[in-house]
Amino acid sequence: MIIPGAETQAFAAALSEAADEPLGRVEYERFPDGEHVVRVPEAVAGERAVVVASTVDSDAHLQVLQLQDAAREAGANEVVTVLPYMGYARQDEAFREGEPVSSRAMARAISTGTDRVVTVNPHEPAVCDFFTVPATNVDAASVLAAPLPADLDEPLFLSPDEGAIELAETVRDAYGTGATDFFEKDRDYDSGDIDISPSDAAVAGRDVVLVDDIIATGSTMSESVAVLNDRDAERVYVTCVHPMLASNALTKLSSAGVESVYGTDTLERVVSDVSAAPVVAREL
Ligand code: R5P
Repeated sequence: MIIPGAETQAFAAALSEAADEPLGRVEYERFPDGEHVVRVPEAVAGERAVVVASTVDSDAHLQVLQLQDAAREAGANEVVTVLPYMGYARQDEAFREGEPVSSRAMARAISTGTDRVVTVNPHEPAVCDFFTVPATNVDAASVLAAPLPADLDEPLFLSPDEGAIELAETVRDAYGTGATDFFEKDRDYDSGDIDISPSDAAVAGRDVVLVDDIIATGSTMSESVAVLNDRDAERVYVTCVHPMLASNALTKLSSAGVESVYGTDTLERVVSDVSAAPVVAREL
C-alpha cells in the first residue's frame, strides 16, 4: 500500500498507478498546539507499506517519521520509504566549522523507521551511504525528454556545471539526438552570487536544453540563460528533476527569456509536467 505524505499526494497517486499498488487514504491533522498527527488505513496490516514523501520542509521531515511509525503500529509487515525529493541532501558535509552534516542526520533519523529507502536523484548520490538500512538512488532524468518539442534544431544539452553532465547526457539519450556540454560554475557562499564560465560550445542559432538536478533560487539557471542569450542561442529550455523554485526563481527564469521550464513531480509545482513515478515503480 502506498502511504503518501501531505506534500507528495500527486506523486503517490502516480506511483500507485505505475506500481499497481493500492493508494492509502491518510489523514493529516494538527493539534491545537501545532503538533502533527497522521492516521494511516487499517488495511495496511500484513501489507508492505510504501511511505512516499518528499522532505521538502521540516514539517514534511517530521511527517515521514510519523508515517513510518503509524504504518508499523498498524501492522505493516515491511516499511519502504521513498523520498522523491530528499531535503538537506546538499548539506552533505560540514562546509564551515561548526556546521552539521545535515543529510547524515536526516538519513539516520529516517533509517530508524524503515527497512529500505529509495531516493530520486539526490544532489550527491553518496548521501545514500548515510542511511543505515539498504538505500538506492534512481535516476529520473530520462523522463525530462518527453515534454521537449520534437523539432529542436541542432540541440545542445548543457549542464550548468560538470557535476550535472551525466544528467544532460541522459536527457540527450532519451531525446534521441543532440550534443552535450557543460559550463563551469562558481558560487560565492557568502553572497550566494553565481559566476558562470562558458565553455567553447557553439550555441549561436541552436536550440539549447539546460539540465540540472535541482532549481532552487534559479540563479544558476538564469545566469546560464544570460550567457546563452549573449551568445545568440536560438530557443533555451530549462529542465530539472527537482523544481524547488524557491522564492522568485520562476520570475528570474521568465525574465531571463527561457522558452519553457520543465520539471518532474518529485516536487509538486506548476512546471511539474512529467512524472518520475514510473522510474520509482520499477525500483519497487
Ligand atoms: C548545485 O550544484 C546544484 O546542482 C544546482 O545547480 C543548484 O543547487 C541550483 O541552485 P540555484 O537554483 O539556487 O542556483
